[in-house]
Amino acid sequence: MIRIEGRDISIYDQPDYKQGKRRGKEDVQVIRPDSLIPEEMKGIGKGKKFLIRTYGCQMNTHDSENMAGLLLEMGFESTEETMEADVILLNTCAIRENAENKVFGEIGHLKALKVERPELIVGVCGCMSQEESVVNRIMQKHQHIDLIFGTHNIHRLPELLRNAIYGKEMVVEVWSKEGDIVENMPRARQGKTQAWVNIMYGCDKFCTYCIVPYTRGKERSRLPEDIIAEVRDLARQGYKEITLLGQNVNAYGKDLEGKNYGLGHLMDEIHKIDIPRVRFTTSHPRDFDDHLISVLSKGGNLVEHIHLPVQHGNSEILKLMARKYTREQYVELAHKIKMAIPNASFTTDLIVGFPNETEEQFEETLSLVREIEFDSAYTYIYSPREGTPAAKMKDNVPMEVKRERLGRLNALVNEISAKKNLDYQDQIVEVLVEGESKKNPDVLAGRTRTNRLVNFVAPKSVIGKIVYVKVTEAKTWSLNGEMVEMAEVKQ
Ligand code: SAH
Ligand code: SF4
Ligand code: F3S
Repeated sequence: MIRIEGRDISIYDQPDYKQGKRRGKEDVQVIRPDSLIPEEMKGIGKGKKFLIRTYGCQMNTHDSENMAGLLLEMGFESTEETMEADVILLNTCAIRENAENKVFGEIGHLKALKVERPELIVGVCGCMSQEESVVNRIMQKHQHIDLIFGTHNIHRLPELLRNAIYGKEMVVEVWSKEGDIVENMPRARQGKTQAWVNIMYGCDKFCTYCIVPYTRGKERSRLPEDIIAEVRDLARQGYKEITLLGQNVNAYGKDLEGKNYGLGHLMDEIHKIDIPRVRFTTSHPRDFDDHLISVLSKGGNLVEHIHLPVQHGNSEILKLMARKYTREQYVELAHKIKMAIPNASFTTDLIVGFPNETEEQFEETLSLVREIEFDSAYTYIYSPREGTPAAKMKDNVPMEVKRERLGRLNALVNEISAKKNLDYQDQIVEVLVEGESKKNPDVLAGRTRTNRLVNFVAPKSVIGKIVYVKVTEAKTWSLNGEMVEMAEVKQ
């Protein structure tokens, strides 16, 4: 235990960048505990409520479902109201500086609440907790935080929470290195229609700008039989869509010794399971092999949407990013996929303002967007992340120039999205109805197989079902339509 500014802090483990970067050869064990909640902790949440605020990617969204599962098993109930919560967890993202700023803003807001209600427990977890500098900053400056844990020890939440509730000190336990794969985590899934399924954890790609390999550890694949059992169970429960998750799903199986089993094999088996839609994210172009393309071209429940982040259109920048492909190789791969999966929608991620990016290099990103005609793209201004190789590169591009480039890129991406959406005008599309539209509760919203958002008026009884909708208006980011009869696709 240490004492900083009058606050006692119990540090079980602290993040260490050098460790986080290391890729050891030791085997990853799969552990299957009967229960992660020790007997004496089963009722500690009785009469209390928890709130988890999630930032970042789908991986975090799904981790939050696992944490919620653990908390429910401890007797807590869930709430959306900050004022009602007895435990608040911030599941954080470290990918860009603005993501981190949002979290520090929220940590600041919670201080007043903690002063008012000292028995409130505030925890910080997720990718930011894996950063040395963040943990140090919280310990020094945000002493109203009670608990910090990371991405590798989520299953330890019950014990850590107990220590935070009964001890008066701040509890810090962040493992720098990945641990075992824990199966049997209770999962409190948010919806009854769409489900996330982790297929692997971690990333070994070490793109020079990216923090994820440090915050999520080395690549570890779940066993195919565990994934398939989970998908079969979701199908039995009536889920309509699953998304297979990993930071680099194309590397799936590489660490499963002696198996020669990759994402293509896994998708081929899932193809046979009676669940209407299967998506996956995120793919890295480098390992997108012909076997996977041929499996995806079988269609059926494998939907026609490929998200394949390219990051940049210039080969020199791609090299500096350590993406390990050239513009030409990406274009060739994109064409191969488009030939094999006709009508596939093709989306991507793009970074502008990488250190020393010239106007000419940036224009190659624009020309790539024109050449591939991405259906949509997530676009970001490069954000230096402490500890990554790119953060050490000198950068001569002023922020105004980066912003201006982002504006031009977005205008082009939107123009192409709008044009591509026009192809849907008057077409009848298959829509999985997700719920009420966020903007108007009288309208329902759902997605096509190609991941287009569709808004239409229909009875609420079709929520969670797959229906046909005729598109009446194509907009830049969404389609409006009318449901065709009550025709429901096979449920
Ligand atoms: N594993 C996924 C993406 C993870 S992060 C992949 O490799 O495709 C999602 C996106 O955030 C990345 O594709 C990239 O475009 C962006 N990103 C990652 N690090 C960034 C940084 N330091 N600055 C700006 N954008 C970044
Ligand atoms: Fe980051 Fe690259 Fe890994 Fe994606 S593949 S998570 S961008 S290091
Ligand atoms: Fe963010 Fe971590 Fe995901 S850094 S994007 S939450 S893996």
